[in-house]
Amino acid sequence: MQEIPASFWTLLAGIVVTAISFWVGQNHGLFPEQASNQAPLVDGFFNFMFTIAVAFFLVVQGAIVVFIIRYRRRPGDDADGSSVRENLPLEILWTAIPAIIVIGLGVYSVDVYRDMGGLPSSGMMMAHHHSRGSALAAPLEVQTSPALTATTYGLGGAPMAEENHTPDLTVNVTGLQFAWIFNYANQQVTAGELHVPRGQDVLLKMTANDVIHSFWVPQFRIKQDVFPGQFTELRFIATKTGEFPVVCAELCGSYHGGMRTRVIVQEPADFERWLTESQVAQASGQTVAQATPSTLLTSYAQDLGITQETLAQLPH
Ligand code: CUA
Repeated sequence: MQEIPASFWTLLAGIVVTAISFWVGQNHGLFPEQASNQAPLVDGFFNFMFTIAVAFFLVVQGAIVVFIIRYRRRPGDDADGSSVRENLPLEILWTAIPAIIVIGLGVYSVDVYRDMGGLPSSGMMMAHHHSRGSALAAPLEVQTSPALTATTYGLGGAPMAEENHTPDLTVNVTGLQFAWIFNYANQQVTAGELHVPRGQDVLLKMTANDVIHSFWVPQFRIKQDVFPGQFTELRFIATKTGEFPVVCAELCGSYHGGMRTRVIVQEPADFERWLTESQVAQASGQTVAQATPSTLLTSYAQDLGITQETLAQLPH
C-alpha cells in the first residue's frame, strides 16, 4: 500500500485549522449583547484578532502533539538527534508572517477607532470648543485647582463618520468617589442614572471631582477615563432600548467595586417624558446650579440608591 504524501496531510490540517478558527472567531460568545452603533466595529476587530489567535494556537499546539508522538524516543534508540541549524528561508517566513499580521491589525484598529469617532476632524474639534459653554457651568461646581484645559480626549467625534453633525443630546457626566452624576444642562435635570433616547447621537462631556475614574458601558463597547480638571468625551448612538450597566473601570478607592449605575435607553418619546417629569420635579426643589454635591444628592439619595457612606465621602 502506498503512503499518503505529507503535503496532503498538511493541506488537510490547514483546511481544518482555518475552518475551526473562523468558526470560533465568530461564535466565541465572550461578549455581551451589542447595544450601540460602535459595538459591531469593536466586535469585528476582536473577532478578527481572535480568529488569528485560535489559528496560531492550533498550529503551535498541534505541532507539539504531533512531534511528541511521531518523534518520540523508540526503545533501544540511544543515538543523538540529528543536528539542525539555521534555515534562512524559514526564519524569513516566520518573521514576515507576524510582521504582516501586526501591521494589518494596526491599520485595522486605527480604522475602527476613527469610525468610532476617536479621530475627529479639525472642523469637528472647533465645533466642540464652541459648544463647551454649558459644560463649563457644570452643576456640581467642579472644584479644580488647575483650570480646565481646552483639550479633550476620548471618542469626541461623530460615530460612523457623520462628520459635522452636532450631537442630538449632550450630557455632562461627573465621576466622584463613588458615584456617577449625570446633568442635562439645557433642561436643568440632574440624575444618578443616565437616560438616553434610542437612535440619537449622544455626547458625554465627562470630568471627575476627585480622582481618576473610568466610564464603561460593556454593551456599548465604549470606555473612557475621566480626570479631575480635564474633560474627556464619549459619543455614541444607542441602538437598543433597555437597561445596561455603567461600570467604573479604574481603581478609584475602597468602594470602586460599588461604583456602578445604569444607562437606560428609551424610545425618544419616553425619554422626553422622563426629562419633562424630572424637570418639573427638580424645579420645585433646589436650583441645581446652586446646590453643593451633598445637599443636591441628599434629596435624591433615596431614588438614586446612593448610601449615606457615599454621601459622606463627598467634598464640601
Ligand atoms: Cu470610580 Cu473606580
